[in-house]
Amino acid sequence: MRPYIVAGNWKMHMDSESGTALARSIHEGLAADPPSDGVSVVLCPPFPVLSSVQAAIAGSGIGLGAQNMHNEDHGAFTGEVAPGMLRAVGCTFVILGHSERRQHFHEDDAFINRKLRAALTHGLTPIVCVGETLEQREAGITEEVVGGQVRGVLAGITAQEMKGVVLAYEPIWAIGTGRTATPEQAQEVHADIRGVLASLFDRGLADRIVIQYGGSVKADNAAELFACPDVDGGLIGGASLKAQDFLAIIRAASTLAG
Ligand code: PGA
Repeated sequence: MRPYIVAGNWKMHMDSESGTALARSIHEGLAADPPSDGVSVVLCPPFPVLSSVQAAIAGSGIGLGAQNMHNEDHGAFTGEVAPGMLRAVGCTFVILGHSERRQHFHEDDAFINRKLRAALTHGLTPIVCVGETLEQREAGITEEVVGGQVRGVLAGITAQEMKGVVLAYEPIWAIGTGRTATPEQAQEVHADIRGVLASLFDRGLADRIVIQYGGSVKADNAAELFACPDVDGGLIGGASLKAQDFLAIIRAASTLAG
């Protein structure tokens, strides 16, 4: 049985004060109504807020994640952050290859693959994002595009390493648009991704990998998405910025996890 992982991607929102308040509210909400054992919760604030969020969630069991990192350990990479720096402030997760990074900062599968290897070397659990544009979906090439991204970002990864990787399917047309994938659309792509994993590794390993869905997940659609057999939680943007909404999404996973 795979766990559910519900991760909040705060993107470029929240300062130290508002971020700490949000993290505290989530901590308190989960303390009052603890999620089932099969549900993990992760908060991914912007870099300058990582330490204050870490302090606010200390001892709660909530994981801390960054939204990006560089693959090198150190060096002349102005503006970049190294994996060891993330570990030092308490991160155990890192989002890699988000479509906004691919689109605005020209990250490609090869670069994301290098980051993925670096994350694993440093003991960070990477949440690696894949997803198609609306044009690609309408052209009927979703499976090809997403499958290509999965193969690209996982190039050279061993079965042993793969056990420490989380994937997130995020159709770009559903991110921040309020237009979520239907459960059928999400399930179809998640099953395709699991098929690619089975061909790269084996079916047993493919069945163990957590594949989150992301793209306009809200309190009122989380349950139907998470109920899909191959959807193992969510990467939540907008709805992770309000404690009550995020807690409701966690509850949806918790109810399903039993
Ligand atoms: P959204 O963002 O929930 O606001 O659509 C999801 C994401 O980009 O990870």
